[in-house]
Amino acid sequence: MQKLDVVLGLQWGDEGKGKIVDVLTPEYDVVARFQGGPNAGHSIYFGDKSFVLHTVPSGIFRPNTYNIIGNGVVVDPIILMKEIHDLEQMGVDVKSKLYISKRAHLILPTHRLLDVASEKAKGDKKVGTTGKGIGPTYTDKIARVGLRMGDLLLPDFKERYDALTNEHLARMGKDTAVDHEEWLNAVKELVEKFKDNFVESEIVVNKWLQEDKRILAEGAQGSLLDIDFGSYPFVTSSNTLCAGACTGLGVAPSHIGKVYGIFKAYCTRVGSGPFPTELNDETGEQLRRLGHEFGATTGRPRRCGWLDLVALKHTITLNAANSLIMMKSDVLDGFDTIKVCVGYQTKDGKTLDYFPMYVEEMDITPVYKEFPGWKTDTTSCRSYDELPKELRDYIEFIEKETGVSIDIVSVGPNRDNTIVR
Ligand code: GDP
Ligand code: IMO
Ligand code: MG
Repeated sequence: MQKLDVVLGLQWGDEGKGKIVDVLTPEYDVVARFQGGPNAGHSIYFGDKSFVLHTVPSGIFRPNTYNIIGNGVVVDPIILMKEIHDLEQMGVDVKSKLYISKRAHLILPTHRLLDVASEKAKGDKKVGTTGKGIGPTYTDKIARVGLRMGDLLLPDFKERYDALTNEHLARMGKDTAVDHEEWLNAVKELVEKFKDNFVESEIVVNKWLQEDKRILAEGAQGSLLDIDFGSYPFVTSSNTLCAGACTGLGVAPSHIGKVYGIFKAYCTRVGSGPFPTELNDETGEQLRRLGHEFGATTGRPRRCGWLDLVALKHTITLNAANSLIMMKSDVLDGFDTIKVCVGYQTKDGKTLDYFPMYVEEMDITPVYKEFPGWKTDTTSCRSYDELPKELRDYIEFIEKETGVSIDIVSVGPNRDNTIVR
């Protein structure tokens, strides 16, 4: 039986998962999303075209690859239909390549409103969510009252929808304005066009693995946003770690193969919460400007800072990542000095070499190791040997510290700005 490979983010999301999944797709028969929803924004560049995917897996642009939205994903039909229309406009045949789990939960318009209302009520303690209704949808899933993709096919779906949205409105105020029409129209079109693509994805995925088909699971968000192991409560509402691929697709842990861990050569974070190496200075501004660090989903400026090896080692362990992919090292091309955090110094003088549980404990000062910059444009490099020595030293230091090899280095947003070692 074939094993399922996983690609996931080792930081706070936006590591470049979309690009790498698109690059790796030709090696696979199937690409599957297993958690998260339209809070994700996965950018893909090829030639002079670019696209941001929110719900559809990043294998969709390659011919001969099936794409599955797994049971662990939460789906907003409005966003999904818009994405499908945009893909079709680009000439992508979505209908013949996309399957959707009947068990995937639906994001209702009231979930979005609840998300926004809950953030507003938190004031300056807000999580800084994407406002896509992710938290409230997963809350209903766990409370066993949510609606699923397969429920759209039931004769009493509208009654179930009314009951749940009324319950939400009772919490928010009955006169809260809700656009039911737009959502129900999207659902109607989704069912009309894609009913035959609704599947029991756990059965399909396991059958394909038995038939020796190669499947790549595409994570969303990042390991430090995991509901259990991220900096709670400043996290998303799903398991973003490798374990999420098992529950989000119905695949047993013994069937997990390669785990590709993706990280940026520096760090970014959108939304609130601890970020030990954050730079609120001209260097942080430079990283944001050169890395175009603005959210692919919300357009918000991303917080930027140096690479954090303490956090990286922690997430490599939690995922048992056995192949690393380093993204966006080209953004550092012009820096004189590059810093890497190798420890956390607490207020009472201790040095932590692990990622602590309590947010308050994160009142720490990073201990940095400095590297000389390479001051060379690397975007046209296509082999490891072509990279400047200073960058190779940086890569090899990270490999030594983490004990895992960096098998791919990405030196630009396009498919071909990629070095496979
Ligand atoms: P994802 O959510 O993990 O798929 O990442 P995003 O798409 O949200 O953010 C990554 C951004 O970096 C996108 O704009 C990508 O086009 C861009 N990108 C990806 N890899 C590279 C790279 O190696 N160099 C540069 N300069 N940009 C990259
Ligand atoms: P991709 O897949 C970066 C962040 C939000 C917020 C927290 C909770 O593109 O890497 P949510 O809307 O999920 O309830 O927000 O998680 N967040 C992301 N940050 N990339 C993402 O996805 C994210 N998805 C959610 O900014 O801090
Ligand atoms: Mg993103």
